[in-house]
Amino acid sequence: MDVTVRKEVSETTYTEVVEDKDRLLPQLHDYLDTEKQFRKALFFYEAGLQQIMAKLEILNREFQYGNDRNPIENVKGRVKSEQSIVEKMKKKGLPMTISAMMNNIYDIAGVRVICPFISDVYQVARMLLSQKDINLVKMKDYIKEPKPNGYRSLHLIVLVDVFFSEQMQKIPVEIQLRSIAMNCWASTEHQLRYKKDYELSDKMQQELKKCADLMAEADQIMQGLATEMKF
Ligand code: GTP
Ligand code: MG
Repeated sequence: MDVTVRKEVSETTYTEVVEDKDRLLPQLHDYLDTEKQFRKALFFYEAGLQQIMAKLEILNREFQYGNDRNPIENVKGRVKSEQSIVEKMKKKGLPMTISAMMNNIYDIAGVRVICPFISDVYQVARMLLSQKDINLVKMKDYIKEPKPNGYRSLHLIVLVDVFFSEQMQKIPVEIQLRSIAMNCWASTEHQLRYKKDYELSDKMQQELKKCADLMAEADQIMQGLATEMKF
């Protein structure tokens, strides 16, 4: 990559101009106020993510005492990469500012929660949402109403209160909750869909939808067993 940094000095300003003719995707901090402010904003999201992950861990461990099992199989969290933030902001036609980012992109902090049973998905969601320092912004229930391609998951966008040295901030976090079977489908479908230079035919999409429905059937049967065993 051909990057040159030119220092421009004028009477009142001193600016660093980064030039890169080959760069297809501009770096967010070239645009967004300053790099330092951008890093600080991302740190806020990291803190929100940590807060949600700690809450999930506590709920999962507490459940173990009364029920001898865990309603959560696996939790993964990530802060969206700089590149993906830029791509999303461009797609939405947003100005490259930190406030536009914070007011419009809700999945900068994201957590994926995998549960053994569908009933666990709803129970974990309920337990989280009942907490005073978590506010629901939006819920999309793709389990009750799957996407046309067969995708199933419960999506929550929440604001979680995080205390910093001088102020409290409500940080948006996207939480995706799904069963092991739903996750098996979604992870595999994601790989197939994003294979470079390959477009899935209608027939292949139908096959994928069939797989999603088979997974859903397995989930229903396993839910029946769990209910019978009073899980
Ligand atoms: P973005 O996709 O984030 O721009 O937002 P949206 O408002 O359309 O949100 P939605 O809740 O539909 O999806 C958000 C996220 O859910 C995606 O970024 C994926 O992680 C996941 N997701 C949604 N649909 C699919 C799907 O068909 N397959 C897979 N594998 N994941 C999906
Ligand atoms: Mg997303």
